[in-house]
Amino acid sequence: MGRVAGKVALVTGGASGLGRADCELLAREGASVILTDIDAAAGEAAAEAIRASGGEVEFRRLDVTSPEDWQAAVDYVRERHGRLNVLVNNAGIAKSETIEQCTLESYRRQNAIMNEGVFLGCKTALPLLKDSGNGSIINMSSIASHMGYPVFFAYSAAKGAVRSLTKALAVHCQMHGYPVRANSLHPGAIDTPMIDQTAAELGLADKAEVSPVVGLGKPEDVANAVLFLASDESRFINGVELLIDNALSIQ
Ligand SMILES: NC(=O)c1ccc[n+]([C@@H]2O[C@H](COP(=O)([O-])OP(=O)(O)OC[C@H]3O[C@@H](n4cnc5c(N)ncnc54)[C@H](O)[C@@H]3O)[C@@H](O)[C@H]2O)c1
Repeated sequence: MGRVAGKVALVTGGASGLGRADCELLAREGASVILTDIDAAAGEAAAEAIRASGGEVEFRRLDVTSPEDWQAAVDYVRERHGRLNVLVNNAGIAKSETIEQCTLESYRRQNAIMNEGVFLGCKTALPLLKDSGNGSIINMSSIASHMGYPVFFAYSAAKGAVRSLTKALAVHCQMHGYPVRANSLHPGAIDTPMIDQTAAELGLADKAEVSPVVGLGKPEDVANAVLFLASDESRFINGVELLIDNALSIQ
C-alpha cells in the first residue's frame, strides 16, 4: 500500500520542476493525480511519462489565474472522481526585479499567479475537499516570505501572502470543524528550470551561485514534504510553515 493510496490529488504547475516531482511521487505512492498546468504540451508529456512508469495520472489544462478554469477543473474532479483529498497550489513564475525595476504590470502578473491563484484554488476546491471528508491543502510559498530578497520584490510579496493566507485558512477550517488541513512549504533554492532562469537573469555563470551558502536542493526534497503533508501521517499538522532550505533562513 502506498502512503497516499486511494487519495485523489490535484497539482498546479505540474508540468515542470517541483510540481512534476510532486506528481511523480504522489502517483508512485498510490494517489490518482490530476496534473494541471497552463502549458498543455509540457503537461501532457509529463503525465505520459508518469503513466509510463505505472502511475495513475491525467493532464488537465488549468491557468491558475482563471476563476473559470478553476471551477471547470473542480467540477470535472467531482464528476470524474467524486472526491478531492489533496490540493497542491504550486504554479509560479519568478522575475528577478527590484522595486525600482518592477512595473505595476509585472507586480500584478506575479501576484495574479502566486497570490490570487492560490486564493482561487483554495476557495474553489474547498467545498469538494470538505465533502471528501479528508482534505489537505499544500501551498507553495518560499523562503522569500521570511527573508529580504531585494531582487525578488513582487515574488516576495506574493509568497508572503501565501504564508499568511494559509494560516488564516487553516484556522478557519479548524474552527468550523471542516476535515481540511492547510500548510505552506518554504523551499530555498531548488534545482529546477526556475533556477536556470534566475541564474540567467542575474548573469551568473553557474546556477550554483544562486545559493552559494547552503547549495541547491533537489525537487525530491520538496516532493517528500508534499507527500508527508498529503498523507494521513500528518493528520494533526495544520497551519504549519515548513522551511526546506538547509538552515539558510535562520543563519
Ligand atoms: N525552484 C525553487 O528554487 C523554488 C524555491 C521556492 C519556491 N518555489 C516555488 O515552487 C513553485 C514551482 O517552481 P519551480 O521551480 O518548479 O518552477 P518551474 O518554472 O520549473 O515550474 C513552474 C510551472 O508553473 C507553471 N505555470 C506558470 N504560470 C502558470 C499559470 N498561470 N497557471 C498554471 N501553471 C502555471 C509553468 O508552466 C511551469 O510548468 C513555484 O511556486 C515557485 O515559486 C521554487
